[in-house]
Amino acid sequence: MSSLQLAGTYDRHVAASVARIRENVLDWEHLPALHAGSFAACELVDMDADGWRVRLTAAGDSRPQTLKLYIAADTSQYRVVTEAGPGETSEIRVTVRETGPHAARVHVEYHVPVSDPAMLAMIGKGFVAIYERLWDEDEAMMQAREAALTPRPRALDRVDLGPEVDLVLPRDFDLGSGRFRLVRHRGGLLAHSRVCPHWLGPLDVPIDADGCLTCPWHGYRFDAATGRSADGRTLRLAAAPTITIEAGQVIACA
Ligand code: FES
Ligand SMILES: [Fe+2]
Repeated sequence: MSSLQLAGTYDRHVAASVARIRENVLDWEHLPALHAGSFAACELVDMDADGWRVRLTAAGDSRPQTLKLYIAADTSQYRVVTEAGPGETSEIRVTVRETGPHAARVHVEYHVPVSDPAMLAMIGKGFVAIYERLWDEDEAMMQAREAALTPRPRALDRVDLGPEVDLVLPRDFDLGSGRFRLVRHRGGLLAHSRVCPHWLGPLDVPIDADGCLTCPWHGYRFDAATGRSADGRTLRLAAAPTITIEAGQVIACA
């Protein structure tokens, strides 16, 4: 096996706090959900003080890789080593430098066991394209999570959503301490929480043919009508408001 060579680097300003970046790096579970275009499956092998070890299968490839994360306690650097599978011994090395309360610079290097310069250049180019997309998706999630964690004033416990005849669906609204979406489902009006109870991910997604909502961050599923977990977990959506029609007006009550 040849020694590792640097195939490519990727530098980026990330508009998110180092706390969110750390959370995101340790969060192996988002890989096949948020990055569904890049990864088909991911399962945890084990976890230690350095971080996770996972079995990750890339989209369009049936051969899983075993990857091990080593992250510094202060998040200033981390690396992901391919222990087995395609690209075995390759390493992704990342440095993270905080530049503001919600800002950081990341420098990513991809080291591979390849010595041919033409092959290295090709691998490096592919790596940069993939990493740009992954960081775009991660940054959007980190920012949305930061916003979701920011306390909001409590909304009213009764909201008039306007005349039924003018109702445009889906209709998002806040009620009490919750955030909801009103949709038409199986012939009637249905309100459901649009906040995932796992990490506060966005459930402003269409109801699928099974009557379920799938969270885009980690792929957890919920029955839209009952709010119950649809994938065997114990999580449950916030209680849906009561929707009534009063003198032609659509009223939501907590
Ligand atoms: S936030 Fe994790 S599944 Fe929704
Ligand atoms: Fe990610």
